[in-house]
Amino acid sequence: MNRILAANWKMNLGLADARALYTAVADAKAMCPRVTTIVFPPFTALAALAETARARGGGPALGGQNCHMDAKGAFTGEISAEQVRDAGAEYVLVGHSERRRLFCESDQLARSKLAAAWRAGLVPLLCVGETLAERERQETRTVLARQLQRALESSPPRAPLHVAYEPVWAIGTGVVAAPEQVAEAHAWVREELNGLGRSEGGAPILYGGSVDPKNAPSLAAIAEVDGFLVGGASLTAPSFLAIAAALDAAAARAGARVH
Ligand code: PGA
Repeated sequence: MNRILAANWKMNLGLADARALYTAVADAKAMCPRVTTIVFPPFTALAALAETARARGGGPALGGQNCHMDAKGAFTGEISAEQVRDAGAEYVLVGHSERRRLFCESDQLARSKLAAAWRAGLVPLLCVGETLAERERQETRTVLARQLQRALESSPPRAPLHVAYEPVWAIGTGVVAAPEQVAEAHAWVREELNGLGRSEGGAPILYGGSVDPKNAPSLAAIAEVDGFLVGGASLTAPSFLAIAAALDAAAARAGARVH
């Protein structure tokens, strides 16, 4: 299976800079054939980047950073999953910890947004992860199980899904989870997904939280890691491409072990 590099540009980059960065990383596929790249630009750049991809005959897949649960209506300032799809996206982030923490989004809301994503034909990338206090209380496994169960309760097991394990304490902090912590948490997420009827391969599990070119090789080598969700380090082409190269090398090594 290809590794996935998902780039969350958050509330960064104007149109010109977004276009320039997208174009600079657009050839990642040729350089790193075992990596699928997905860019989550700000909404203001989504349609323009879809146009850039069309014009150059390809480029990273696109995703929205958020969506509303309804298809349309009087929700000033919101954007529906259908509109995200219409702008050229194939993916959408759901339940990112910044949405949970800063915009009071609950697991129940994540569930509604997952349903909206599937309704619109998008692949949701569901983010889960514990806070530092929860980790210190040794509640990581319980928190992950609760987030996954509530978000995925009564969802169709074959509906396409990506999951990102993002310990909240590692996001944007420069503190990266230790490889053993990542492997353990990913195994818990996998176990929970299996329990919810989602088979192996059906839902890749990405690691997110301060991934950068330095730590990417060791994180990519973890068997349970299917890819990365990267924020800060995805905002410049050299570091984006270095992380893609680390995933590609890990996929090549894993492939060589299998054959
Ligand atoms: P970071 O962000 O790589 O800057 O820690 C990751 C994320 O929020 O998805």
